[in-house]
Amino acid sequence: MAERHDAVDIIKTKRGGGTLADDQIDWVVDAYTRGVVADEQMSSLAMAILLRGMTREEISRWTAAMIATGERLDFSSLSRRTADKHSTGGVGDKITLPLAPLVAACGVAVPQLSGRGLGHTGGTLDKLEAIPGWRAALSNEEMMRQLEDVGAVICAAGSGLAPADKKLYALRDVTGTVEAIPLIASSIMSKKIAEGTGALVLDVKVGTGAFMKTEADARELARTMVDLGTDAGVVTTALLTDMSTPLGRACGNGLEVAESVEVLAGGGPADVVELTLALAREMLAGAGVTDVDPADALADGRAMDAWRRMIAAQGGDVDAPMPDAPHVEEVRAEADGVITRMDAMGVGVAAWRLGAGRARKEDPVQASAGVYLHRTLGEEVKAGDVIMTLHTETPERMPRGLAALADACDGAGTVEVTPGGSVERRLVIDRIA
Ligand code: URA
Repeated sequence: MAERHDAVDIIKTKRGGGTLADDQIDWVVDAYTRGVVADEQMSSLAMAILLRGMTREEISRWTAAMIATGERLDFSSLSRRTADKHSTGGVGDKITLPLAPLVAACGVAVPQLSGRGLGHTGGTLDKLEAIPGWRAALSNEEMMRQLEDVGAVICAAGSGLAPADKKLYALRDVTGTVEAIPLIASSIMSKKIAEGTGALVLDVKVGTGAFMKTEADARELARTMVDLGTDAGVVTTALLTDMSTPLGRACGNGLEVAESVEVLAGGGPADVVELTLALAREMLAGAGVTDVDPADALADGRAMDAWRRMIAAQGGDVDAPMPDAPHVEEVRAEADGVITRMDAMGVGVAAWRLGAGRARKEDPVQASAGVYLHRTLGEEVKAGDVIMTLHTETPERMPRGLAALADACDGAGTVEVTPGGSVERRLVIDRIA
């Protein structure tokens, strides 16, 4: 059958800074997924998009075309409204773990389709897989049943959602075109819109440990994604949040599960609690629930109950302790003072090299590897105090983990201790609706 467009014309239009017609977009996304448009043609188009940008209408159409390549889930038969959260990824970002059961405990169902980590930011599924027996792969029927019974499900996104994105993301990864904001926004939102959630909150991270290093870029990405969600009929808001310092004290799969359980038990680090509550309020408001305070559900154990049911429903042993790493090394303060820098990228790369993350998508991850911050930003230390411990199952990784800490910030190091210093962190930088 003759094709109705020519890929080269489309590439040339975008290369020249032109606007693509709706039908050109529909065709090129579909034809790429079918294998009619070749990888080299799509990579050329992706580069033209990176350099020339796209209008709001083009991004919206591109997103719709990606959704149309796969299935769409439909939660309209559930007895409760749905809300979901997406984070652009950060170090120590375990927020999904306490957040999903917390929002479920407040009466809104949370269908959280997640991925595995690649690079220095961990994946939610990798974290939960540190729990013995826990199963990430659910059928659509199992997911629906759990959403109705428990109210929250965190599971692997099946390959049926926006298959065009899977192919295109892998191509962008090897052609230097990941950073194009129209392509990031349409990639994330095609999956979230296809997932069928009624409301969505985006946690757009900014800082050294984030995808977006500058506030201006993070703002543009947030604005683009909020517009895409809104145009598609999903109540969408975004919080711009700081990722120059890791969230909480635990970075690594099992370590982060343990810290999430502390939060669900009413304790845990203040920043993790603050962000969990801020995102929960956005999700509840998006689903039209404004008369419930999620802080109460954390304090009175309802969120913990929902967590236990959510993990048990997927085969996880909720009472199993997280594994201890057999090899642990301490990093101590060299002077008295206040920690005025705890660089997210330094800690994230160290945890990754220790075995918490993977370099290639087929690599296994270690459940007990990571970095635990006994002291973090703004806290006082005395010379000789333990600032952090490094954990791994494979001791030959230790030197590279330590080197990641030392090499961060162009060699200035991950940690800065300033005598008499002080520092303020604005965790939630802005809200975009
Ligand atoms: N995450 C995604 O899902 N897609 C991108 O393009 C970038 C991050």
